[in-house]
Amino acid sequence: MAYSRKKVLIISPVHSNLISDLKRHKFEIKYLPNISRKKLAIEISKTYVVVLRSGIQLDKDIISKSNHLRFIIRAGSGLDNIDINEAKKRNIKVFNLPNLNSQSVAEFSFGLLISASRNIVKANIDLKKNLWNKPKLYGYELRNKTIGIIGLGAIGSRIAKIAEVFSMNVLAAVKNKGKKRPKKVKIVPLITLLKKSDFIIFSVPLNNKTKHLLNKKNSKYLKSHSILINISRGGVINEEVLYMLLKKNKIFAAATDVFLHEKKQNKLFKLKNIIVTPHIGAMTFDAQKILAEKTFEKIKNLVK
Ligand code: MLT
Repeated sequence: MAYSRKKVLIISPVHSNLISDLKRHKFEIKYLPNISRKKLAIEISKTYVVVLRSGIQLDKDIISKSNHLRFIIRAGSGLDNIDINEAKKRNIKVFNLPNLNSQSVAEFSFGLLISASRNIVKANIDLKKNLWNKPKLYGYELRNKTIGIIGLGAIGSRIAKIAEVFSMNVLAAVKNKGKKRPKKVKIVPLITLLKKSDFIIFSVPLNNKTKHLLNKKNSKYLKSHSILINISRGGVINEEVLYMLLKKNKIFAAATDVFLHEKKQNKLFKLKNIIVTPHIGAMTFDAQKILAEKTFEKIKNLVK
């Protein structure tokens, strides 16, 4: 089968600079951001480098079809959609480019938080139907409220900084308790955070330890006016539990940018008290431009 070291397959939306830079350096690019699984199984067998973001799985089955693949570049942080062990077995090197989109995701979290706490999406939908529902659109201020951040990595720390600007009390639940943390952030156990927070943001990677961090058992500690924001991964919150909390109005609202199965219909979409977005936390020109630059540099250095 014909193949060359210059073959790069890009299977997620990336900034156009990446395509033009690669073309200028005579790479043969296939840019298929909406590729189906069936087509991916064929295309991956012909490529040397694959570039991807979230929302598409490079699982064992797909990686097993990759005869000539040597490098997987994740233009972002999360590696949860790549079977790292299978790649290792086949001597395929996997790289991610962490932290370059953290500011975009942190800012987006506040977009979701304010939209949910002030009913902005609901108001927008109603008004476009000429429904002036002002009495039904009460919300909450952020000032002097408690925000609980689950995970204080690159994104969580930026969320904490923004929260201070809004004069919020900041709690955080973290894995590594020994690490030095920003002065104004109080580190607490997860249960305390769930009990005390008015707003809760999940910003942890998905792994065996973070799967279903919010579950049936601990969801009973949530305040009845709490607002949950998920900008990490769908599996971090048990989706069925979230659905029931919202359906039974056990919390005020939720907003999620991530889902257990992306690019699929979801029953959460049917609820009125949740804002849903298609994993766009990192979709800014700013973040994607720098990611394109770093992805290009990485490929250039790897494929000589
Ligand atoms: C990431 O892991 O960096 C984010 O999920 C952003 C993305 O790839 O869309």
